[in-house]
Amino acid sequence: MADIEVLQADITQLDVDAIVNAANSSLLGGGGVDGAIHRAAGAELLAECRTLGGCDTGDAKITGGYRLPAKYVIHTVGPVWHGGSRGEAEKLTHCYSRCLEIAAQRNIRSIAFPAISCGVYGYPLEQAVAIAVDTVREQLNILPGIQRVVFCCFSEEVERLYRDALTT
Ligand code: APR
Repeated sequence: MADIEVLQADITQLDVDAIVNAANSSLLGGGGVDGAIHRAAGAELLAECRTLGGCDTGDAKITGGYRLPAKYVIHTVGPVWHGGSRGEAEKLTHCYSRCLEIAAQRNIRSIAFPAISCGVYGYPLEQAVAIAVDTVREQLNILPGIQRVVFCCFSEEVERLYRDALTT
């Protein structure tokens, strides 16, 4: 069974095979973690993203990591929170499962996730953290190649929520 870790860190610094980017459907960069990843990876990341033709909400696409310590970036588009009645939970679940599916296909052993949709996209933290933990646990049972998953938090509050969710 893979190790699941919680860290409070800047995801662009993590030395894992792949980091997940909370992108928007254009895949052409933005603020938040998207902006941080593009800044750290350098211009070649955007150049590769331009060739991908965007990404649907709930889906994910993989690129190189360029100047990042990580070899790959898996870009996923989380749902914008509209109150919970527009399939947000299902789309967020699909973000996590699609990222892990792509990682497994590329023989990626270690992957770090930010708290997808929990910033600009306004997803309620506790609900998003529960979806992240439940989906990752479920997927790791069927994706034996993945050995390490890191939930990379950008605040103590989010770190505490992940730690609490992992103890249940
Ligand atoms: N490392 C780890 N986590 C980070 C970092 C970082 N360097 N920077 C921000 N975060 C955290 C935020 O604190 C939040 O908990 O990532 C989580 C996701 O927040 P956002 O980056 O705002 O992503 P999201 O809510 O999914 O909104 C995506 O924002 O940046 C734009 O282009 C992006 O349009 C898209 C939207």
